[in-house]
Amino acid sequence: MKRSGLHPYRQRSLTGEAAGAHVDEAPDADEFLSDVLRGLSARRKTLPCKYFYDAEGSRLFDEICELDEYYVTRTEVGILEANVAEMAELLGDRCLLFEYGSGSSVKTRLLLDQLESPAGYVPIDISCDHLLATADDLRRAYPEIPILPICSDYTSAVTLPPAAAFARNRALFFPGSTLGNFAPDESIDFLTRMASLVGPGGLVLIGEDLQKDVQVLLDAYDDADGVTAAFNLNLLSRINQELGGNFRLDRFSHEARWNEKRARVEMHLRSEVDQVVQVAGRAFRFVPGETIWTESSHKFTPEAFAATAKKAGFCVDRIWTDSKRYFSIQLLRAVTDGADPEA
Ligand code: AVI
Repeated sequence: MKRSGLHPYRQRSLTGEAAGAHVDEAPDADEFLSDVLRGLSARRKTLPCKYFYDAEGSRLFDEICELDEYYVTRTEVGILEANVAEMAELLGDRCLLFEYGSGSSVKTRLLLDQLESPAGYVPIDISCDHLLATADDLRRAYPEIPILPICSDYTSAVTLPPAAAFARNRALFFPGSTLGNFAPDESIDFLTRMASLVGPGGLVLIGEDLQKDVQVLLDAYDDADGVTAAFNLNLLSRINQELGGNFRLDRFSHEARWNEKRARVEMHLRSEVDQVVQVAGRAFRFVPGETIWTESSHKFTPEAFAATAKKAGFCVDRIWTDSKRYFSIQLLRAVTDGADPEA
C-alpha cells in the first residue's frame, strides 16, 4: 500500500470545479511548531500522530504495512477481495464515490472494477503531486469514470463537485482503520462530517480494526524488526530537522502499551535518562521513564463502533470480517445529515 497523507488535517478553498482542480497544500511549519511546543509543555507530554508522515515516516509506514505482525493491511485487503462484488452492489449504480486519504487508490481499484456506472470518483489527499499522478493513471484505467481529485486535508469540509448532481447516491470509502487514531469525541465529529458529505441515505464504507488478543496487538505495534520503533522515533528526527530540536534518539525508546480502559494501543517514546531537550529555543526536561504519548489506535467491538456511528447519525447496514475476526469493513448508512436522531 502506498500511503500518502492519510492523516493530514487542513483544507483550503478549491481553485476550480473542473475535473482535476486542486489545491497544493504547503506544510504549515507554524502549526507544527505550535503543536509540538504545546504537546511538550503538557503535564503528560504528547505529540500529534499526524506529524508521523513526512517522506521518511510515510516510507516507514509502507514498510509497516508489509510486516508479518501488522495484520491490519493484508486482513483488510483480504476482506475487500472476498466481498467487493457485494459491497459494490450495495453502493448501487450511479454512485459518486469519495475517498479520504486516497494515496495510490490501490484498494479502491477493487471497488472501481465492480461499481456499476459510477457518477465519479473523488479521491481526496494532501499529497498533491501523488494525487494527480494517481488520478491520471485512473483516468487511463477507467476512461468511463469521471475522476475528480481534490488535493486537501480531508478532515475539513469538502466542496461537492458538479458531478454530485448526476449521482443517484453519494458514498465515501475510508479504509485503513484510520478513524481509530482519533480521540473518541473527535471520531464522532469526524463521522458527523462524513454524514453531511454523503447526505441522508448516503453510505460510508469504512475499515475498522477489532479488539483481539492483547499480545497480537502489541506485536503489531512493536515488531521484531524495529520498523514501528523507527517510525515512532522518526517524529523526533523530524522535530530536529524542521524545528531545530536537539533530541538524541539514542536516549529515547519506543514503547507500545495496551490501555484496557480506553480499548486502545498507545505508542510512546520513553526517555531513558534524565535529560533536557531544546526545541526552537525552549527547554523541556525529561525524567527517566517519562514518555511522550505519540499515538492511540482504538480497537472496537462491533457494538462499540455501532454506538459511535449512531452518535454521528449513522446506522450500520452490514459488517464484513475475516475468519479470525481481526478486522472489519462496515457499511454505514446516514440516517440524518450528521446527528443522532435520538440524542
Ligand atoms: C494509520 N493507522 C491506522 C495506523 C494504526 O494502525 O493505527 C498507524 C500505525 N501506527 C503504528 N503502526 C501503524
